[in-house]
Amino acid sequence: MTIAIDGYSSCGKSTLAKALAKQLSYVYVDSGAMYRAVTYYFLKHDVALHNETEVAEALRKIKIDFVYIDGQNTCILNSENVEVEIRSMRISNNVSEVAAIGAVREQLVSLQRRIASSKSIVMDGRDIGTVVFPEADIKFFITAEQDVRTKRRYQELIAAGKEVTIREVEQNLEHRDHIDTTREISPLRKAEDAIEIDNTYLSREEQLMLAIKYIEELN
Ligand code: DC
Repeated sequence: MTIAIDGYSSCGKSTLAKALAKQLSYVYVDSGAMYRAVTYYFLKHDVALHNETEVAEALRKIKIDFVYIDGQNTCILNSENVEVEIRSMRISNNVSEVAAIGAVREQLVSLQRRIASSKSIVMDGRDIGTVVFPEADIKFFITAEQDVRTKRRYQELIAAGKEVTIREVEQNLEHRDHIDTTREISPLRKAEDAIEIDNTYLSREEQLMLAIKYIEELN
């Protein structure tokens, strides 16, 4: 069983994906974390994004894994736990440029398919229902109003001890949505057969119940 969840930045995709995975005992796969981990590596090693040879060489040296640490899905890049680092504003401000590179997408899409080949998964991202798993059993496209998304993300970052302003968060979301929807390769869009859920006025619990209802209707 494959459940694909797509949507704009900070619209509650991962909240729903994690809750569904827990409820159904499926594996949660955070595809955004993979793009963030590659961005972390590229920044750390000063990889020139427009230099195809440098990008290809760097990609060959990257190995991404996920492990559970204290019940949390944790991203491991070349044996280093990068879960905290990849959530920084520095990564958020650069990840969409990295995610627009064809070679990066190719490598990560094949990793995503490999992970899903032997288990039931819930994966969230931008192109999961359109490109990675066009044959997914069920696809959700999550939306929420821009100011609600900004406030939720701001509160999350503040709770995690990050120093940000609401304006910075707003600009970052606008910037990423723009690049993610207008890039040439696999731009973010709703798959024709995806179920749209607008969670602007839904609690986490209500969003989960609604998704479960759609999944139950499959049977
Ligand atoms: O889900 P997230 O905000 O952590 O994702 C970070 C960035 O990675 C997002 O701005 C676009 C990119 N991304 C993508 O292009 N394709 C995916 N399947 C997942 C994320």
